[in-house]
Amino acid sequence: MKRWRALALDVWAIAGAVDLRTKIMGIVVGVVLLFGLGATTLVHHGFEESLRGQLEKRALTVGRDLAARSTDPLLVNDLFQLYSLVRDAVSTNEDVRYAFVQDSSGQVVVHTFGDGFPRLLATANSTDGTGSQLQILNTEEGLVWDVASPILGGKVGTARVGFTDHRLRDAVNAMTRWLLLTTVLASITGLLAAIFLTWVLTQPLLNLEEVAHKVARGDLTVRAHIWAKDEIGRVGMTFNAMLDDLRRAQVKNEEATQELIRKEQSRSQLLTKVITAQEEERQRIARELHDQTGQSLTSLLVGLKVAESASTLGEARERIRQVRDVAARTLQEVRTLAWELRPSLLDDLGLPAALDRYLTLYKQQYGIEVDLHSTGFEHEDRLPSEVEVTLYRIIQEALTNVARHAKAHSVSIVLDRRPPEVVAVVEDDGQGFDAAKVLRSSDVRSRLGLYGMQERASLLGGTVLIESSHRQGTTVRVAIPLNGAVIRQSEANHEVG
Ligand SMILES: Nc1ncnc2c1ncn2[C@@H]1O[C@H](COP(=O)(O)OP(=O)(O)OP(=O)(O)O)[C@@H](O)[C@H]1O
Ligand SMILES: [Mg+2]
Repeated sequence: MKRWRALALDVWAIAGAVDLRTKIMGIVVGVVLLFGLGATTLVHHGFEESLRGQLEKRALTVGRDLAARSTDPLLVNDLFQLYSLVRDAVSTNEDVRYAFVQDSSGQVVVHTFGDGFPRLLATANSTDGTGSQLQILNTEEGLVWDVASPILGGKVGTARVGFTDHRLRDAVNAMTRWLLLTTVLASITGLLAAIFLTWVLTQPLLNLEEVAHKVARGDLTVRAHIWAKDEIGRVGMTFNAMLDDLRRAQVKNEEATQELIRKEQSRSQLLTKVITAQEEERQRIARELHDQTGQSLTSLLVGLKVAESASTLGEARERIRQVRDVAARTLQEVRTLAWELRPSLLDDLGLPAALDRYLTLYKQQYGIEVDLHSTGFEHEDRLPSEVEVTLYRIIQEALTNVARHAKAHSVSIVLDRRPPEVVAVVEDDGQGFDAAKVLRSSDVRSRLGLYGMQERASLLGGTVLIESSHRQGTTVRVAIPLNGAVIRQSEANHEVG
C-alpha cells in the first residue's frame, strides 16, 4: 500500500513539473490511443469470432449438400458424376480448398487435388454415421475446417470438404488495419485539437504570468490582456483592478512624498529667513540702542553735568528742563523699540486694541486707508495668547504685502470671533496677483511671506485662504479653531476674574 502511495506521489511529482500544454496534449493523445486500441482489439476479436461461426456453418452446409448429392452416383459408381460434384463444390465456393468422396471402406473415390492426394488427410477426420463431423486441421497452408458428412448414414461412404480461413483472415486484417488507421488519424486530430485548445487556454495564462513578472519588477503600468470573459478573463480583470488600485496608491504616495519634500524645503528656507531676520533685528536694535539711546543718555549725562555746575538757580532750572526733554525723548524711543519688538498692548489689552495701534502707525507710514471691524470681542475674556500673536503676525504680513505690492488705496480688516473659530479677513483694493500661480510655484523663496502665514496658522490647526486675481484686489482669510485648549483657557480666565 505504501509502495503504491509512494509511486503515485512520484508520478504526481513528475506530472506536476510538466507544463500545462504538455499535460493537456498528453491526456488527449493518451485517451484517444487507449480508446482506439481498445476498440480495435474488441472489434478484431468480435469480427473474427463472427466470421468463423459463419465459416463453420457454411462448411457443414456444403459438406451435407455434397453428401446428399453424392449418394446416387456413388451407389451406381458413376465416378465422372462424382468428380463433377466435388469439382463444383470447390469452384463455387472460394473458401473451399478441397473436396473428396470416400467409400464405406474409407478409400478415396474422387478428389480435387491435382498433384496427388495427401495421404494423412483421408484419416484425419471421420464420422460415426449419425451426423457431420467438423474438425480443425493444422496444415502447412494454415488452419483447415474439415467436414466429414456421412452418405446414407455412412453405409455408402463419406463426403469430405475442407475450408480455409484465408479470406476470413484477410477480411479481419483489413478491418484491423482500417481501425488502426482510424485510431492514428483520431490521435493526430486529437493532437491538433489539443494544441489549439492548449494555445487558447494557456495564452491568457502566459500573458498573465508575463504581466505578473513585470509587476514584480515594479512596473505598475502594464495590464493583462482580456481575451474572453471566462474564468481566466475574470482573473485577468480582477488582476487589472488590483493593479489600478496599486497604481493609484503609488501615485498618491509619490505625490505625498513630493509634497513632503516641498514642505521640508519650504520649512528650512523659512527657518533660514527667520534666523536671518532675527539677526537683522538684533543688529537694528543694537544700532538703535547705540546710536539713539546711547546718544540720548550721553547727552543726559552731559546735561546733568552742566546743570550741576550751573552758577544760578535759573540757569540750573533751564538745564534741568532740557535734560527732562532729553529723558522724555529717550523714554519714547525705548518704548517704541520695545513696542516694535512685541507690542505690549497685545499682552495688556488684546488683539483689537494692539491692531488699532498698529494701524494708526501703518496709515502714517504708508498713507493707505485702513479700517477695522471686530465682532465677538465685546466681553472680557481674551483669546489664547498664541492665537492672538498668530493672528497679529499674519495680519501684519498681509498688510506689509499690501503696502509693498498691492498699490492699494484702502484696506479693510474684519475680525470675527465666532466659536468654534476666529476669523480674520484682510481685503485690499489693489492690483491683485495670480495667487494660484504664486502658491503653486516651486520656488518657495518667492512666496516665503505667504508660506509663513500658512505655517503659523497650521501650527494652531488653522487655515489661510488667499483669493486674488489681476486688478481684482486681494483677500486673505485666516481661520483659527478655538479648540479645547482655547476654551479651557477662557474658562480659567473667568475663574480668575
Ligand atoms: N496684497 C497683495 N497684492 C498684490 N500682490 C501681492 C499681495 N500679497 C502678495 N503679493 C504677491 O505675492 C508675492 C509673494 O508674497 P510674499 O509675502 O510671500 O513674498 P514677498 O512679500 O515678496 O517677500 P517676503 O518674504 O519678504 O514677504 C509677492 O511677491 C507679490 O507679488
Ligand atoms: Mg511679504
